[in-house]
Amino acid sequence: MPLTIAVSGKGGTGKTTICALIINYLLQKNLTPILAVDADPNATLADSLGVQVENTIGNILDDFLKQKEGLPFGVIKESMIEYKLFEILLEEKGFDLLVMGHGEGPGCYCYPNSVLRDCLDKLSSKYRYTVIDNQAGLEHISRRTNGDIDVLLLISDPTLKGIKTAGRLQNMINTLNLKIGKSFLIINRLPGDIPAEILEETKRQNLDLLEIIPEDEDIRTNDIKGTPLINLNNEASSFRKIKDLMEKLTGG
Ligand SMILES: Nc1ncnc2c1ncn2[C@@H]1O[C@H](COP(=O)(O)OP(=O)(O)OP(=O)(O)O)[C@@H](O)[C@H]1O
Ligand SMILES: [Mg+2]
Repeated sequence: MPLTIAVSGKGGTGKTTICALIINYLLQKNLTPILAVDADPNATLADSLGVQVENTIGNILDDFLKQKEGLPFGVIKESMIEYKLFEILLEEKGFDLLVMGHGEGPGCYCYPNSVLRDCLDKLSSKYRYTVIDNQAGLEHISRRTNGDIDVLLLISDPTLKGIKTAGRLQNMINTLNLKIGKSFLIINRLPGDIPAEILEETKRQNLDLLEIIPEDEDIRTNDIKGTPLINLNNEASSFRKIKDLMEKLTGG
């Protein structure tokens, strides 16, 4: 069964880092093929994966809006978008990467966005795993640009504010009745032991805490040098926790 994992959470909590480490884990375990989706308009997942991207879905949508009036009769707009989607899909060893980017021009993106969502659902069913990196907040999810999600990871820093934000996101998910299989809390960048107040707040917010990832010197070193996270030391404390997290999710 294909599994779609997406992340959400407030800005700078480690969403992109965790997506890159999950992809790193899946590659090492040969749990391929993987579809990596960078759904953050300020795209950084490609850098973390050490690949260069030229074209984004934003470009496709712009082209589509520019051309749609002039398209010859009978050209099916859906198939045009789908075709272009394959054109910009970046094929790497073990994973493919799609970068959403953002539309530049004026005009309504609702129609192409909805076609895109259907194409994305169709596309992701061809992969064993789809990993979606999102921008901060819930806009992507409330607008359903992500398509169906099996596992949503709410990423928080180890602060009361962070946990409360994750709680608010969870409430929004419940109220909007979104198509999300399960959602879990991940606390990232914990410098030492977990404070009791944080655990209490987690319970109060009814969040399901799946994993705690430590503040990791190896990630910081990688960051300074700009080394892609795909090359992070296998023994790095954060990566060991990602392994535990993924074993819980995949049951293996
Ligand atoms: N466990 C960790 N240990 C040390 N540094 C970390 C850890 N997790 C993330 N970082 C660092 O924190 C910073 C923010 O991480 P990241 O870019 O993944 O966050 P984000 O949630 O994707 O941010 P944005 O909301 O801007 O997309 C980065 O410099 C990253 O290297
Ligand atoms: Mg990010």
